[in-house]
Amino acid sequence: MGFNTRQIHAGVQPDPVTGAILTPIYQTTTYVQESVDEYLRKGYSYSRSANPTVRALEMKLADLEGGADCTCYGTGMAALQAVYLAFLNAGDHAIVADVAYGGTYRLSTKIFSRFGVSFTFADMSRPETVRAALKPNTRLILTETPANPTLKLTDLAAISKIAREAGVLHAVDNTFLTPYYQRPLELGADLSVHSTTKYFDGHNATVGGAVIAKTQELDAALRFVMNATGMIMSPQGAWLTLQGCKTLSVRLERQSANALVIARWLEQHPKVAQVRYPGLESFPQHALAKSQATGFGAMLWFEVKGGVRAGKALMDSVELWSLAENLGSVESLITHPVTMTHADVEPEERGRVGITDGLVRLSVGMEDVEDLIGALDEALKRVGA
Ligand SMILES: Cc1ncc(COP(=O)(O)O)c(C=O)c1O
Repeated sequence: MGFNTRQIHAGVQPDPVTGAILTPIYQTTTYVQESVDEYLRKGYSYSRSANPTVRALEMKLADLEGGADCTCYGTGMAALQAVYLAFLNAGDHAIVADVAYGGTYRLSTKIFSRFGVSFTFADMSRPETVRAALKPNTRLILTETPANPTLKLTDLAAISKIAREAGVLHAVDNTFLTPYYQRPLELGADLSVHSTTKYFDGHNATVGGAVIAKTQELDAALRFVMNATGMIMSPQGAWLTLQGCKTLSVRLERQSANALVIARWLEQHPKVAQVRYPGLESFPQHALAKSQATGFGAMLWFEVKGGVRAGKALMDSVELWSLAENLGSVESLITHPVTMTHADVEPEERGRVGITDGLVRLSVGMEDVEDLIGALDEALKRVGA
């Protein structure tokens, strides 16, 4: 079946008791067993271990990514943490993308480094630097593409090949494109990680995370961590995300179409210094964007002439675009990564990887594109170049 059909029907079926078409929110702690000898006959014992609403979402996401199975978590950060806990031990080394969501850097440098795991932050756009960063104790390569916020791309097939040859796992944060536009497991990766907070939910209603594993064995290691640490997704969160998934493709197409129009408009605006969007011919890795994904997504960034001061004035005054963290929702959001999403990345590190003080990040939503452009135009008129 096609993606549009699966995003609606995979993992769910009418409620066997009432016929309710939507999977109910199974708000329960425990599950009554038939007898001691028939313990777990229906598959559920306690909602930290498994919950039917969450399970429906796990099965849907596993299907959409083409994985063996999926585990869901309370946030995207919990999903990334589960990957570290399941596959890294004290003394191990991991190679992590030098540009990624700021929380990934924080989790690595401020938490896991305390427990004896070492990290190399590598330029994933240059596979030879990743190969050179491998050590005898490397166990994991974690990439994110397009990367938050600079949108630097990673050649997933090339990095997967390096990981396979070295016998290490390759996990990909696929939050920005989702399986509708990019399927890391088909390109050779072992794990696809998501902040479901973003496009799967799509309505600014939840925080959540997921890891889709290529094999049952990898999924079992993650499921053990999920249960042992209790980093689970709530049934309400899963239910809302299940509804969001049904329109994923339509939202992404509309949001991406809006993003391309806005990127082209910004590119010719006299007050804009530079624009980066993978769908623009001027994007340095445009060819890779076209070859490994079926769409360019709805994230872009630009810098206003007049630098940081002008950029901040624009973000403070623009209408319609909400100044907020998060991305991927139907509402358009504007973000200043340096003070918001990437505040915990040291200034030198940010400078080194191109997260400049003047970078303005846009998460393009589903509003009429003329209104989104009109609001940006008004705000740009107000800021001094
Ligand atoms: C690419 C990416 N991965 C992971 C996360 C973390 O997800 P969450 O906020 O759901 O914990 C984010 C959050 O912005 C993100 O942008």
